[in-house]
Amino acid sequence: MAGRLHDKVAVITGAAGGIGAATARAFVDEGARVIVADVQDERGETLAASLGGAARYLHADVTRETEVAATIAMAQQSFGSFDCIVNNAGLIGGAGSIATMDAAHWHATMATLLDSAFFGTKHAAAALIARGVGGSILTTASIASLQGGLGAHPYTTAKHAIVGLTRSVASELAPHRIRVNAVAPGFVVTPLSMGSLGADADETAQRSAAASPMRLPTFPEEIARAFVYLASDDARQVTGQLITVDAGATAAPSVSRYHDGVSRFLGPAELAERFRSL
Ligand SMILES: NC(=O)c1ccc[n+]([C@@H]2O[C@H](COP(=O)([O-])OP(=O)(O)OC[C@H]3O[C@@H](n4cnc5c(N)ncnc54)[C@H](O)[C@@H]3O)[C@@H](O)[C@H]2O)c1
Repeated sequence: MAGRLHDKVAVITGAAGGIGAATARAFVDEGARVIVADVQDERGETLAASLGGAARYLHADVTRETEVAATIAMAQQSFGSFDCIVNNAGLIGGAGSIATMDAAHWHATMATLLDSAFFGTKHAAAALIARGVGGSILTTASIASLQGGLGAHPYTTAKHAIVGLTRSVASELAPHRIRVNAVAPGFVVTPLSMGSLGADADETAQRSAAASPMRLPTFPEEIARAFVYLASDDARQVTGQLITVDAGATAAPSVSRYHDGVSRFLGPAELAERFRSL
């Protein structure tokens, strides 16, 4: 049986690890061919090789517009078409009090998290409009797209802006049948979250479960499933949307979290405390 992404060609940025790597694997499992784009060459090459002829690796720094554009050109050259981009590359970025925040840190975070999404959306839109058969533009947002206190100021600002970009562009591209959506992961066990907590995978999984009303850790494969859905024809009427995959972390008002004598998961204040050093 053909996979849900049979014959589709996708670019995935930040695909050498974490959510991007899981998404690349899931896309290939569903029949897609992918460009694995990242700056971690060894990890990216290894992942692409493990996916056989369905993947190619390209070194692409998403803060550079020409390098983002090159990922789409490589998809067209390698696989003969282009249907989807997942703007996923990211980092925690600049931290600290707004009163003392260094503008250079602010701009560096915006470049990686937000400029990258603009570049990917812009060049994917141009290629998809020219092709004329529709397509899908996807970006990794965050539960920090929805409220403050879940990340540092530049991270939270960039992730909010990604939702604005998604909604703004969706209506322009809708007549071209190009759908524009974002996924907001909760607390996912990845190198990024492990690094920010200074914890190994097991401890990070425990903390991810503790942050979830479902008591389940969220692994990158859960986020990849949402991207598969949004890239597939199953989502052909879905555009301009943010799909949150957080095991319920943002479903309840934060105050109720502290009145649950049985449940134990982190509310925004506790999460903010965890992330205070970011
Ligand atoms: N892990 C979480 O809990 C979580 C939660 C919400 C959102 N996110 C978002 O998910 C996305 C993926 O994060 P992850 O958790 O998988 O982290 P990760 O560190 O495992 O993966 C991020 C990837 O992006 C790449 N990258 C960083 N800067 C780059 C650049 N300039 N050019 C190209 N590639 C670059 C890294 O090399 C890495 O492979 C990010 O946008 C992140 O903000 C993560």
